[in-house]
Amino acid sequence: MSGKKLTAPAITAMKRSGERIAVLTAYDCMTARIVDSIGVDAILVGDSAAMVVLGYKNTLPVTVAEMVMLTAAVARAKTRALVIGDLPFMSYQADVGDAVRAAGVFIKEGGAEAVKLEGGVRIADKLSAVVNAGIPVMGHIGLTPQSVHEFGGYRVQGKDEKARANLLADARAVEESGCFSVVLEAMPRELARQITEMLSIPTIGIGAGPDCDGQVLVVNDILEYTDGRPARFVRSYADVGSIVEDAARRYVADVKSGNYPDDEECY
Ligand code: KIV
Repeated sequence: MSGKKLTAPAITAMKRSGERIAVLTAYDCMTARIVDSIGVDAILVGDSAAMVVLGYKNTLPVTVAEMVMLTAAVARAKTRALVIGDLPFMSYQADVGDAVRAAGVFIKEGGAEAVKLEGGVRIADKLSAVVNAGIPVMGHIGLTPQSVHEFGGYRVQGKDEKARANLLADARAVEESGCFSVVLEAMPRELARQITEMLSIPTIGIGAGPDCDGQVLVVNDILEYTDGRPARFVRSYADVGSIVEDAARRYVADVKSGNYPDDEECY
């Protein structure tokens, strides 16, 4: 899709103009080109890559080097969409300096135009330090998968009064830290609506209902190109897993039978 390059301030401005924000993940150049060509607004090189690309059982093991390599592949697509790199577990939690340096590597070596960090109040110092280094930051609150062990699984967050109050405080902290947008993951739609009304930065929902300013999904989920049962909030738009399986099966059968290559497929 041709058109003006989307920047972090342009994404923030979409909330004011009332245009909904469509975000998808991508982890390679080809997928980035395709989703960009149809007008996605931002591409998140999510640490979900740990599971859907690298085969880890959760997002915790993925490293900065692995994430930066995938981010650089997406950035080489030279998209109109904003490219956001996801800081992996333990690249920013321990120390403000770590956070700024890790974010810097995503910008300098990965070609990212923004980064995402998980957490609210308790990482507010890291969020504002990265913002103060001149790097646009997307926040991420609610079900933050890097805290899976703390939560005891991938559970909907913000279900009781105290949890709701904590998430409202997280949302405020993210905005006050200077983030240009915030992901709201797996929370009751009413709470997501309240946060969306409260904040001047856009909320990007995933399992947070229709009242957010935008939505994000993992591209492998909308393509059914993943293992396991999809979460309830995922909508499938294609069964790529079956397409790959069928193509690979027919190719193997052709090789085994001598049907491939034929005369037209030779030099
Ligand atoms: O890692 C990821 O893909 C994400 C999104 C699902 C928000 O964090």
